[in-house]
Amino acid sequence: GDSDYLAGQTWVITAGPTREPMDPVRFISNHSSGKMGFAIARAAQQAGAKVYLICGPVQLATPAGVERIDVETAIDMQTQALQLALKTDVFVACAAVADYRVAQVAEQKIKKSSQQLQLLLEKNPDIVASVAALDNAPFTVGFAAETENVETYAQQKLQRKNLQMICANNVSTPGHGFNSDTNALSLYWRGGNLKLPLTSKQELARQLVQHIASVLKECPQP
Ligand code: C5P
Repeated sequence: GDSDYLAGQTWVITAGPTREPMDPVRFISNHSSGKMGFAIARAAQQAGAKVYLICGPVQLATPAGVERIDVETAIDMQTQALQLALKTDVFVACAAVADYRVAQVAEQKIKKSSQQLQLLLEKNPDIVASVAALDNAPFTVGFAAETENVETYAQQKLQRKNLQMICANNVSTPGHGFNSDTNALSLYWRGGNLKLPLTSKQELARQLVQHIASVLKECPQP
C-alpha cells in the first residue's frame, strides 16, 4: 500500500472541462470527464499530500480528504490556479481548458433570426504556462492529448510551456483519454522518459504520482 511519502507536500490539480458562456443559457465546452485529474487527486491524497482540486463542471464525487474548488470558465480556473500556485509544491494541469472563449457574452438570450450567426472567439490564457512562468514556480506537470507524432509534440510542449514534465496520451488509440476508464501515458521530463502502459486511470494515477515524486526529489524546485 501507499506510505505517506508525500507528507508535508501540497499538490494542486486542475481537472475537467471549462465552460465558456455565450449568453445566459448557452455555453461552449468539451467532453472531458475529469476522471484522470480526479484519480491523480485521490492518489496524491492517499500518498499523504494536502491536495487542492480545481475543477470545471464534472459529474464526479470529490475524493476523500481533497479540497475541491469548482470553477466554470478558463479565466476563473486561472485565477484560482495562480493563487494556489504560490503555496504548492506540485501543480498538475489535467484540465481540458477551452482554447477560446466567446469575445462578447450576450447579456440576454441570443434570439434566432438570421440564417447565419457569427460568434467571435478570443484565445484563453494558457493556465499551466502562466503557472510555470511564476517566480518560484512549483514543479509543473502538463498533459498532451495527441493523435500523431506524440513524442515530438509532447517534447515541444514541455519546452514551450517551460514545464518540468509532460504526460502524453495518444487519444486515437482505443481505451485512451476522454471519458474512458483506462489510459496509457508516455512521460517526458528533462532527464528522460517513461512509458506507463494501458491500465485503469486510478492505477495509472498512482504510478504517475510516484514518478512525479521521484523526479521532484532528484531536481527540487528553487
Ligand atoms: O496546448 P495544449 O492544450 O495541448 O496543452 C495541454 C496542456 O496544457 C494540459 O496540461 C492543459 O491542462 C494545459 N492547458 C492550460 N490552459 C490552456 C490550455 C491548456 O493549462 N488554456
